[in-house]
Amino acid sequence: MLKKVARDIIKARHFRPMAASGKEDQLLAEFKQAFSATPQTNADSAWGRYLDLFRQRAIQDDPRKFLRWDVIEETMCVSYARFLKTEIAYLKQNWKVWGPVINETAVGDPVPYLFHSKSSGNLIHHAYHLARFQAATGCRFEELDVVYEFGGGYGCACKLLHALGFRGQYIIQDFPHFSALQRYYLGMHGIEPTLTTEPMTQPKGKSLFLAEWSLSEAPEIARAPMFDIAKDCDYFLIGYQPVGGEVDNVQFFGEWQRKIDAHWSVQDIAHLEPNQYLFGCPKRAPN
Ligand SMILES: C[S@@+](CC[C@H](N)C(=O)[O-])C[C@H]1O[C@@H](n2cnc3c(N)ncnc32)[C@H](O)[C@@H]1O
Repeated sequence: MLKKVARDIIKARHFRPMAASGKEDQLLAEFKQAFSATPQTNADSAWGRYLDLFRQRAIQDDPRKFLRWDVIEETMCVSYARFLKTEIAYLKQNWKVWGPVINETAVGDPVPYLFHSKSSGNLIHHAYHLARFQAATGCRFEELDVVYEFGGGYGCACKLLHALGFRGQYIIQDFPHFSALQRYYLGMHGIEPTLTTEPMTQPKGKSLFLAEWSLSEAPEIARAPMFDIAKDCDYFLIGYQPVGGEVDNVQFFGEWQRKIDAHWSVQDIAHLEPNQYLFGCPKRAPN
């Protein structure tokens, strides 16, 4: 009861809305249009049910507040978690880099984070993943040519990487529902990634394969083609739970470590046990 009251108080706060713009009207119209052509999946799987609920929200509700939709909060948005304190403390060790890029915008109506109201819980959470990855691999985001992200949610990691200086080609593979959301959200930030619902060949160059709690939730049939994409990548940031979609992820990603020639490290996430990161980088940094 007390927890609910506290949440309601936190939820009553908002970022200052952006001025209405023709660009937003156009992106919103495209978003709504995407769902007029998207049928129900009626699939009896966790993601099938989420997609149908998301479709319902997309048709009936205001997309300008999508970060407060139940289906988004449940599947990909942390706003109130206690562990955010640990994550922001970690970012503060290099605040010159992380402080500015976690300044939030009003797009999607995120809930301001209670202890740092310029940001939101989920933006802090994504910045934490990237900061841990960078500490482990030394990857310089501004030097990457390509990012291939599997399951990009609403586009939070993509937005952050651009704020950190990435200027190459950013590919996001996801369900059509989320491609539509990513087009809206990232378009509002002036970012136009390559959105695909099928595996696609990435261009040559220094590349990062990114999959945060996404590939680890997909069924085997969706995972298999990703190996062919990942095997040509230089860096890897994968977040996963031990078992997902009835697949043993420890075994699945163990196989990638055996087959792909990279310097690998599996790292615990103490405040999110038993979740882990799998980080990878070239054995010798290319010149
Ligand atoms: C739990 S969300 C995580 C989103 C984001 N990576 C994050 O960390 O916030 C899982 C993401 O993977 C996508 N996804 C799950 N199964 C998928 C599949 N079989 N094919 C494509 N995308 C999938 C979902 O649509 C969603 O974007």
